[in-house]
Amino acid sequence: MSEGMKGFRRTHTCGELGRQEVGKDVVLMGWVHRRRDHGGVIFIDIRDREGLTQVVFKPDQPELMEKARNLKQEYVVAVKGVVDPRPPEMVNTDLKTGEIEVRAHELRILNEARTPPFVIEDEAQANEDLRFRYRYLDLRNRILKENIIRRHHAAQAVRQYLNKRGFLEIETPLLVKRTPEGARDFLVPSRLNPGKFYALPQSPQLYKQILMVAGFDRYYQLPRCLRDEDLRADRQPEHTQIDIEMSFVEEEDVFALVEGLMQHVFSETIGVRVEIPFPRLTFAESLSRYGTDKPDLRFGLEISDITSLVAQSESDLLKNAASKGGAFAISVQGASGISRKTIEQLEAVAKKAGAPGLAWGKISGDKASGILRYFGAEALEKLRAGQDETLVLIVAGERVHSLKVLGQVRVELAKILGLIAGDDYRFVWITEFPIFEWDEKEARWAPAHHMFSMPFDEDLEFLESDPGRVRGRIYDLVLNGVELGSGSIRNHLRSIQERVMRVIGLDREEAYRRFGFLLEAFEYGAPPHGGIALGFDRIVMLLSGRQTIRDVIAFPKTTSGTSLMDDCPSEVDEADLKELHIRLDLPDGGGKA
Ligand code: AMO
Repeated sequence: MSEGMKGFRRTHTCGELGRQEVGKDVVLMGWVHRRRDHGGVIFIDIRDREGLTQVVFKPDQPELMEKARNLKQEYVVAVKGVVDPRPPEMVNTDLKTGEIEVRAHELRILNEARTPPFVIEDEAQANEDLRFRYRYLDLRNRILKENIIRRHHAAQAVRQYLNKRGFLEIETPLLVKRTPEGARDFLVPSRLNPGKFYALPQSPQLYKQILMVAGFDRYYQLPRCLRDEDLRADRQPEHTQIDIEMSFVEEEDVFALVEGLMQHVFSETIGVRVEIPFPRLTFAESLSRYGTDKPDLRFGLEISDITSLVAQSESDLLKNAASKGGAFAISVQGASGISRKTIEQLEAVAKKAGAPGLAWGKISGDKASGILRYFGAEALEKLRAGQDETLVLIVAGERVHSLKVLGQVRVELAKILGLIAGDDYRFVWITEFPIFEWDEKEARWAPAHHMFSMPFDEDLEFLESDPGRVRGRIYDLVLNGVELGSGSIRNHLRSIQERVMRVIGLDREEAYRRFGFLLEAFEYGAPPHGGIALGFDRIVMLLSGRQTIRDVIAFPKTTSGTSLMDDCPSEVDEADLKELHIRLDLPDGGGKA
């Protein structure tokens, strides 16, 4: 049944009426959120994007009451009425419209609704698959809706900030030649060019660099980037970046721009003042002090290198392990409250991260327990953290691996000890990443970031002799342990590019086959340039205090890369495949690969 809107015109949203409108005639439209029968009166909460308003039906209009009584959850209605103040004991200070209610004198049912498969509430309890299947219902819940609205405001703030600074928003293609960001490409067959494929862009990297060659000087875009990789809480097959590239700049220019941008976005969207400049750590420092290149600086618990203390100790176990690289420790003060069970939990984290175990002991006064019984008084003094009992957690073995294990233990420990404040925002730049990574599987050097970053001048001499030692002018922006963005000053000089490519085993011919268009463009006057891409979904996730980017994307995919609402990916008709010259070769001849 639909009674239509004729004669009704919405005067207000459901989120705006207050004391100042008392006495006014109003028309509201929205969804029935809740109905409560209170003996003589019926209350209906009507909901729209902006909020909830309580509508009251009183017994002096029995027909209207009867109609209201038949309203069901999620019916779409229009109400004409007058704004009344709520009696003082009924005022709801949690609600924007909590001081008033609308006394109805007309009600229209604009549309009926099937009973929703789950209750629409702030933190939906229903199973995630069901919520994905009915995403439009889930998006009616206040928190998700606010996240999407915040996302809009954040995008506006980004554009506003960059537009003011002379950046041009330029779109780059979605059907591209394969881009080298390190993940797998999604491929799109070309009907007009049988046997050939476009790739969907993993990022606009090559195009934005070419825009610099073309002389656009300052570019930005909020591009959708597509990567066929395994998904996690902070990874989707399509994500949005704030992609920036600038000509005639060095690191300091990019840092200052991004610091100002973050400050602007945080203050415009959540009213938080971010301190700038952000601290900086080199990749090497970050690894030694936090066991990761994405350190969470909201808490201390720094790692120290105790290789020399272990060497002087009497623990053969630790000495043996440390001989493979070193020994590293975290000292925790106030440890009397840390139970055996907590330590076991931390041990499990260390083992999951690939360590054979986690050595530990406590120092209390001049007494030491556990592994620390094998340490001398001087060593204990160095390991002690404060006056109270100290817990020392130790991992020994291959250096980088041990540091990474302890890095994970550090984060878990902070969670257990409740050291992480939700409203604390600690940005940090991580700089001087190595240009190359040794790829064990392929037994060759691979680019650590992408291959267009400039090495530091002073490291150029090691390019051929010791590639692992060459640092790139590469930087990441990290916030509270999450990698928000990544960029570099680019390698715009052909002679150095060719040397880098030789290290990763790309000869000139192969390089030209893969991205010759960029290399060729570089031969026509490429300016020095650099840039960054920030993960927009991750930024909105942190602005919204959420744990997953799925909560800030209107239509995200599940962790297996599917969309349950529209059932995608899905099979394609034989005829369509034929037109694309594609024949399937599925495992077990099944339809579902
Ligand atoms: P990078 O690959 O590091 O760099 O990506 C930049 C930022 O994008 C975010 N991000 C993702 N967010 C959600 N889901 C994903 N699957 C995903 N992958 C990446 C992260 C990341 O820091 N072209 C270069 C940047 C440059 O050099 O200018 C690039 O894309 O927050």
